[in-house]
This record gives sequence, structure tokens and C-alpha cells, in this order.
Amino acid sequence: MTGFDINPSALSYLRRRLARQHLQAEIFEAEMSDFHIGRRADAAYCTVGAFRYLLTEQAARGHLKCIVDSLRPGGIYILGFHLLPLHGKAMDALQWTQRRGDTKVTVTLRVLSIDRRRRIENLEVCVLAQRRRKKVRLQHEFRIRTYTASQFRKLVHSLPLLELCDVYDFEYNIEHPVSLNDEMGYTVFVLRRRLPSAITSQLEGAKS
Ligand SMILES: C[S@@+](CC[C@H](N)C(=O)[O-])C[C@H]1O[C@@H](n2cnc3c(N)ncnc32)[C@H](O)[C@@H]1O
Repeated sequence: MTGFDINPSALSYLRRRLARQHLQAEIFEAEMSDFHIGRRADAAYCTVGAFRYLLTEQAARGHLKCIVDSLRPGGIYILGFHLLPLHGKAMDALQWTQRRGDTKVTVTLRVLSIDRRRRIENLEVCVLAQRRRKKVRLQHEFRIRTYTASQFRKLVHSLPLLELCDVYDFEYNIEHPVSLNDEMGYTVFVLRRRLPSAITSQLEGAKS
């Protein structure tokens, strides 16, 4: 396994967890839109929306290019994030709570605003950690890029070596692929680096 993050604290957390479980992985600090791995991988994944931290089309395209370069031909990339429904209402808040021993942590994620023209969503995350009578509250605002189904399809089509194979929803059920539509929320895309033979026939198809 190889993994990276731009945040050194996230990497030291991962290092501690790997050591605790006696596992090994090659991990390093890198920027998602401009990274390189030593040996091509069979598969890569990025779920829970991290891809949307890339705020421009150029950065998102740079990321997918680096992914193509990191995969062997035929290798797959599993990418999961929330699409912005074309009609209807986008998600406006999410909350989840975890408990361990005396500690209870509640995370609340709120959408503050969405600018569909600039394709920017402003979010606020609040973390409330409680242990007996002690409470710690953290609050942070951040921005992510929005994608409708057709905006993402267009981005994938701009990379000739990448193809969209399958689409799934939040259930992650491999028996239940769905067809990409304008009303989807959390979506899991299975992308593949094309095999050289597929590229040749694609080019021949484009010529005829
Ligand atoms: C939603 S968390 C995912 C955490 C963890 N990788 C996982 O899969 O559970 C998003 C992570 O993306 C990282 N991140 C944000 N922007 C990034 C960028 N431009 N390049 C690399 N990592 C980035 C953050 O530091 C954060 O750790």
C-alpha cells in the first residue's frame, strides 16, 4: 500500500495506527494535484470527498493525470464524493457521533452557501468532544468545488487515457451499479486507465 496526504499531522496519525496494527505502507507528504509514485499500482482510491478540496478544473485535471500515470494499463481508480443535484435541494447538514469509553465525539457538517456559477461550496465543520465534565469544541470553515454529473463526465472525457466503467451510490454494493443521473448525491465512480488496444480502437472510431 502507498498513501499520501498534504497534512503532516494526518500522516503521523496514520504512522501511529500502522505501527499499532503491525502493518507496513509507504506513506509520504504530497499535493493531490501533483504527485508521483515509484511503482505503478493495480488500483487507487480516494473516497469521502477529498477530491473536492481541489478548487479549480486545472487542479482536478492535474490530479486525474497523476492518477493515470500512477496506474498500470487496465488499473482502476475508485473515487467517491457528493455530486450537486441539478434540481432539488443539496444536502444542508450531516451529523454523526462516535463513543469510546468515556469519550463522546459529535461532528456536525453544515453547508453555509453554494455558488453554482463559481462552483464553490462553503462548509462549516464543528467537532464537540466530551469526556466526563470536560468539553472541547472546534470549529472550522472551508471551501470545496462542486460537480454536477455532467461536469464530472466532461472532466473524465478530457483525459483520453481514462474511462468511466461503473457508478455506485452510498451503499457501495458491487451487485448494484446505478446509472449516473442528475439527482445523485454521494457517488462512487469506478474509473479505469485504458488498455493500449482500447486507445487504438478509440482513435480509429474517432477517425471513421
Ligand atoms: C476527508 S479527509 C480523508 C482522510 C483519509 N485520507 C481517509 O480517507 O479517511 C481529507 C484529507 O485530504 C487531505 N487533503 C486536502 N487537500 C489536499 C491536497 N490538495 N493534497 C493532498 N491531500 C489533501 C486533508 O489533509 C485530509 O487529511
